[in-house]
Amino acid sequence: MSSTLARVGILMGSDSDLPTMSRAAAVLEEFGVPYEIRVMSAHRTPELVRRYVESAEERGLRVLICGAGRAAHLAGVAAAHTTLPVLGVPIEGGPLNGVDALYSTVQMPPGIPVATFSIGTHGAQNAALFAVALLALSDPQLAEALKAYRRRMAESVQQKDAQLQEKGWRNYP
Ligand code: RP5
Repeated sequence: MSSTLARVGILMGSDSDLPTMSRAAAVLEEFGVPYEIRVMSAHRTPELVRRYVESAEERGLRVLICGAGRAAHLAGVAAAHTTLPVLGVPIEGGPLNGVDALYSTVQMPPGIPVATFSIGTHGAQNAALFAVALLALSDPQLAEALKAYRRRMAESVQQKDAQLQEKGWRNYP
């Protein structure tokens, strides 16, 4: 996806985070939101992170989604360099299975917020949906697409319920 048109920047601390963060990319693709996706690390490439984030707003980015694992400080460091909304996704895995990354991301001291989502793929999906919701504030077409997405989801739940009933599962009294 062209970086000149990108509205969302997806950052991850390592390429090992891609299986999780690609779920965020898939949601943005579904909504036709232009994005860019990069590997950069708050501790392995700190200068690259600073340069990327400091130039993000003037390059047209409106939201950053940052995924990192273990002592995850990518989202917090990104937030330190911009006033754009930063959404943090704690990556699962490691000895603490992502709880370390969750705490590192969610426990930002006051002043520099990071909106933190759940550990792993569900968090990545929801972060992207939240990015869509933020962009939809000034994009009526995107707002309508988000409402349609919710309607489809509700219909799918109702269909699953209907299938369950057809199979003869008892209703609760
Ligand atoms: C973090 O350390 C990355 O975000 C990744 O989740 C974790 C492990 O990185 P690799 O050793 O797989 O490169 O910085």
